[in-house]
Amino acid sequence: MSEHTVTISELPARIGEEVRLRGWVRRLRSSGKIAFLVLRDGTAEVQCVFVRNEIPPETWEPLTTVGHEACVAVTGVVRADARAPSGVELTASGFEVLGPSTDFPIQPKEHGVDFLLENRHLWLRSARQIAIMRIRDEVIRAIHDFLHHEGFVHVDTPILTGAIGESAGTLFETEYFDLGTAYLAQTGQLYVEAAAAALGKVYCFGPTFRAEKSKTRRHLTEFWMVEPEAPWIDSDGNMELQERFICWIVKRVLYNQRDQLEALGRDISRLEAIQPPFDRISYTDAVAFLQSKGSDIEWGSDLGATAETLLVEGRDRPLFVFDYPKGVKAFYMKENPEDPRTVKCNDMLAPEGYGEVIGGSQREDDHDKLLARIREEGLPEASYDWYLDLRKYGTFTHSGFGLGIERTVTWMCGIDHLRETIAFPRMMTRITP
Ligand code: 4AD
Ligand code: MG
Repeated sequence: MSEHTVTISELPARIGEEVRLRGWVRRLRSSGKIAFLVLRDGTAEVQCVFVRNEIPPETWEPLTTVGHEACVAVTGVVRADARAPSGVELTASGFEVLGPSTDFPIQPKEHGVDFLLENRHLWLRSARQIAIMRIRDEVIRAIHDFLHHEGFVHVDTPILTGAIGESAGTLFETEYFDLGTAYLAQTGQLYVEAAAAALGKVYCFGPTFRAEKSKTRRHLTEFWMVEPEAPWIDSDGNMELQERFICWIVKRVLYNQRDQLEALGRDISRLEAIQPPFDRISYTDAVAFLQSKGSDIEWGSDLGATAETLLVEGRDRPLFVFDYPKGVKAFYMKENPEDPRTVKCNDMLAPEGYGEVIGGSQREDDHDKLLARIREEGLPEASYDWYLDLRKYGTFTHSGFGLGIERTVTWMCGIDHLRETIAFPRMMTRITP
């Protein structure tokens, strides 16, 4: 029998054949004479139709009492059915319970989000979560493809680090043998800068950690970030690269995951509108614009979520905000020669109020300026020896950026909260399951 075992996604190519499927029971409806079982196996879903007087009683009985989400095997003949979403259904004759399930905690009704998060390991099986995870997978594949297509080399950077990457305020610390405190990486950037002097265009892609005490829908304590780093690129070139990158990702999601976007009820026209060029506005002009709209923001303070939403209002594409004040950005950004109060950096704000999905900058390549910034920020100087070496031995113009995977997937999916875009979210108030 096992030679006939196929996946549900293969069924449209097997019309008329007898097959065996294995999967989990999504739904069961029985009239007493006929039973409809919706089976899913990870590749797709299919409706299996059983007619009582065409199958033995010892098959019918366990079928009609099987629990939601039990693991089962079904045999039957594949039939074309124009009404079915996949174009096929199964005229079923055999049924076997492989792994029973009694009282599955998640029922087809409204549950509170805390309950769902508590049962995240089971919530993952829902159609909505499956759609989001498939879109996440597509985004990640598109990222690797784009960067390899552009000649970038993937370099893995450490998660346990001795240096502070972004800011001292949001570090997870752990004791590290006799060597004192180690930090969980907030970024791989400092390390890809070193690798760029060896390999040219490089990127890292991994989990990053921020002990941010924020309970917003945009913050996780553990999130995934891709960080390209490239020699010979200045801040303007960096924004061009980001624009091409985003357009590539969106196009791939639209091309390969349209059905999942539709399943989520995403307004697809909003993604189709993501075309180059993206507008660019300086931080200084952005502040003036916000003030003209009645905001009480002052030059020098960071742009909050409200300001970001106001800036993208009425826009159908992402917006670059560039050259922020030094005081609100990380120590490694290059001082702007035209206005030393600012640094050569950019944030990319997604439309529809999704906020900052990319942060990037040209890096300070002057040894003494970089050292002065490290001192100004009160960072432990000794930990940055090696980073300063990059400015001593063949310093070079280089830029890079970090794109947050969960924020990007949230935007692609058009959903409200980051927590659904990663299989097991880590937030201030959640470390299980
Ligand atoms: O702007 P950030 O902090 O930049 C860096 O870490 C740089 N080292 C990147 C670089 O230049 N190589 O973070 C980059 C992106 C943000 O734009 C956002 O998408 C995401 O990472 N991000 C978060 N995502 C989820 N939860 C958090 N707490 C996040 N903090 C940043
Ligand atoms: Mg940022």
